[in-house]
Amino acid sequence: MPNKPIRHVFICSQARPPGHPRGSCAQKGCNELLQVFWKELQQRNAYDTIAITYAGCLGPCDLGANVLVYPEGILYNKVSKEDVFEIFDRHLVGGEPVERLLAANAVWS
Ligand code: FES
Repeated sequence: MPNKPIRHVFICSQARPPGHPRGSCAQKGCNELLQVFWKELQQRNAYDTIAITYAGCLGPCDLGANVLVYPEGILYNKVSKEDVFEIFDRHLVGGEPVERLLAANAVWS
């Protein structure tokens, strides 16, 4: 039985056909992003405290790639692979959200 993670990261991995009006996080590099998250998890051997799961559409497709972190319910927009290390250090380990990537409150309305 795995341990209950302290933080669970959901990475939108939704793809849509070219020309689809909503676009998708797949068009914005989410698959590569997911690989970097998993690699970082492996290098830190953080399997007991952090879980990373690919997800379907999280909602704000035009702001992808989107990443959602629980238990806080923090949504990050426009996340790139260069942001992964900061999200790990500051939020997943340190407990402080990365302000510059936070979704605007309007995303939830
Ligand atoms: S496709 Fe990623 S949020 Fe919709």
